[in-house]
Amino acid sequence: MGFWSDQVVPRMVHVSMKAKPVAEVRGKALAAAGGTVLEVGFGSGLNLAHYPAGVTRLLAVEPSEVARGLARRAIARAPFPVEFAGLDGQRMVVPDGSVDCVVTTWTLCTIPKPELALAEFARVLKPQGTFVFAEHGLSPDPGVARWQGRLNGLQQRLAGGCQLTRDIAALIEASPLKLTALENFYIAGPRTHTYFYVGAATRPE
Ligand SMILES: C[S@@+](CC[C@H](N)C(=O)[O-])C[C@H]1O[C@@H](n2cnc3c(N)ncnc32)[C@H](O)[C@@H]1O
Repeated sequence: MGFWSDQVVPRMVHVSMKAKPVAEVRGKALAAAGGTVLEVGFGSGLNLAHYPAGVTRLLAVEPSEVARGLARRAIARAPFPVEFAGLDGQRMVVPDGSVDCVVTTWTLCTIPKPELALAEFARVLKPQGTFVFAEHGLSPDPGVARWQGRLNGLQQRLAGGCQLTRDIAALIEASPLKLTALENFYIAGPRTHTYFYVGAATRPE
């Protein structure tokens, strides 16, 4: 991994992902979360302040020790218990059919094999459980997509493996989950990095 990925990237993410336009998207996406939530790519806990009242417990999967440390204060303030539940969303120790909701925010861009993670989300969700997501990814605009391809290698090196070119809707549609809601939009900022996919999917019975 190295000093940059281990020490610098989690702190950069913690600061940059607090921006107001991003926080607004968190609130919008997480309104659909409830019950026992498994958050994969928990980072520094920036979602904790945005969960609605129906959340009763949160299990957090996060590989970065630095990010987990940065989350300490937000965890202490959370109105529900928060427990760490593993390091890798691609292979989790969480039992089958045990959570009401899985959440990812700006994480499917970074998980090395997102298709493995999505299969895991389907496994751990109760039947009719919900996967709630806010992600960035491949733009449908050819000019933007071309630049995303050009910048993708640099982005991966600078941002801990984050990729700009993943079609998040296509990944979910190819998974065992059923996409039930999707909004795509840009927020302010470089269009290569700000094309968002926000929505929900369910685990069929
Ligand atoms: C861009 S950050 C987003 C953090 C947080 N979700 C947020 O919204 O602020 C991506 C996160 O995914 C985590 N991550 C990377 N690989 C992962 C994996 N295999 N399983 C779970 N999380 C992973 C990173 O450590 C990082 O915290």
